[in-house]
Amino acid sequence: MEGHYITVREAIARAEGDALLRGWVHRERGSNAFKFIVLRDSSDIIQCVVRKEDIPADAWEQVAKLQVEASVQVAGTLRKDPRAPTGVELKVSAIEIVGTSDTFPITKDQSIEFLADNRHLWLRSRKMTAILKVRSAVFGAIHGYFRSKSFFEYQSPIFQSVQCEGGSTLFPVPYFGQQGVFLAQSWQLYAEPAIFALERIYTVSPSFRAEKSKTSRHLTEYWHAEMEEAWADFERIVAHGEGVLKHIVRTVLEECRPELEILGRDPKMLEPSLGKPFPRMTYTDALALLKERCGMDVEWGKDLRTVEEDKLSELFDTPIAITHYPKKVKAFYMKESVEDPRTVLGVDFIAPEHYGEIIGGSERESDLKEIVRKLKEQGEKVDEYEFYLDTRRYGSVPHGGFGMGVERVVAWVCGLESIKDAIPFPRTMLRWKP
Ligand code: 4AD
Ligand code: MG
Repeated sequence: MEGHYITVREAIARAEGDALLRGWVHRERGSNAFKFIVLRDSSDIIQCVVRKEDIPADAWEQVAKLQVEASVQVAGTLRKDPRAPTGVELKVSAIEIVGTSDTFPITKDQSIEFLADNRHLWLRSRKMTAILKVRSAVFGAIHGYFRSKSFFEYQSPIFQSVQCEGGSTLFPVPYFGQQGVFLAQSWQLYAEPAIFALERIYTVSPSFRAEKSKTSRHLTEYWHAEMEEAWADFERIVAHGEGVLKHIVRTVLEECRPELEILGRDPKMLEPSLGKPFPRMTYTDALALLKERCGMDVEWGKDLRTVEEDKLSELFDTPIAITHYPKKVKAFYMKESVEDPRTVLGVDFIAPEHYGEIIGGSERESDLKEIVRKLKEQGEKVDEYEFYLDTRRYGSVPHGGFGMGVERVVAWVCGLESIKDAIPFPRTMLRWKP
């Protein structure tokens, strides 16, 4: 069918006049005289009604056999109809079936496993479509934030020869018979060398963690938004964390209202994050708060577990920034705090509503000896880190950065039950297909 196609959403907005639309059959029902087709495209759904008497007999024969997910092009006239799912109906004058559909395997009330096996088809659902749009807005907001602050986009290798976040979650890769090649856990150790060239850099890239945990927060492959900045002190790093999260929430609230509605996500849950500064507390304060408000005793020096992070998150309606963790629970590259040398200048942002740690970052240790000492303590081969140690030998400057788990942020803004729905094809310990 020749002519100018408009989107379903445009058609709904016009609500009158002639229109050409194309998309997929989202639902269908009918009798031997007419057929109702709910047509779906990437923008929305619209009810189309085809009457037998309005189209040629051979076309009607095809239409009568139409199944869900067939692709069609339709011409017709728009009119308002409060009974139609999106308030507008297209009275069809011509229809062309572009691709017929076999009986679609996904019907109502199917198990999570079945939907995961058929992920490639489930992507077409309204829920997944809405999530993927929010995800796209979140990626756009990350780029927008850092570019507006004069950061350069910079890429690190994915095949790496060092660990950044501890050996236990490294994925070794067979590499022409060589040992010691791993998938990136983080861009960081390859980003720090580049601040001497670019000063302010960011990336959005996949990271890989061999997480044995089967939780609603862990993926083995996730998208990691990371930044690194020269001359930045700890305060500045924390401010960027808050800045980018606020910018993401603002963007989603501006661009994705219809998607939040489809997902049943109340925008009121996100609005507090725009209106006020995120609460900040040290790890030590967090322990006091846990004791006082939640009756939970955590021994000083122990890392916060999920249960404790969740309890803390219940006390606030915005993300919170926890700083000054004990040295022992944090990575080798974090700078020791001058005020309290038992702790490091590291920060975790914990999302509200049990979405957990969405950002981890720090000012970087500048003392070469201290870095070497910690690497040795962890049993690392220091030789492998020589390229990294050079960042502290040739014009070292104060600097820092963070990493944000994009799927955790998407899960939070969308109000999802599991992080798995925040990515098109989730990879976990038990799932790598299709
Ligand atoms: O806290 P992490 O391990 O920090 C780093 O990787 C630093 N090198 C980042 C940096 O300073 N450039 O990871 C950063 C964030 C976490 O806060 C979390 O949101 C997310 O990455 N993350 C995961 N998301 C999904 N699945 C997993 N298995 C994740 N592990 C970490
Ligand atoms: Mg962390």
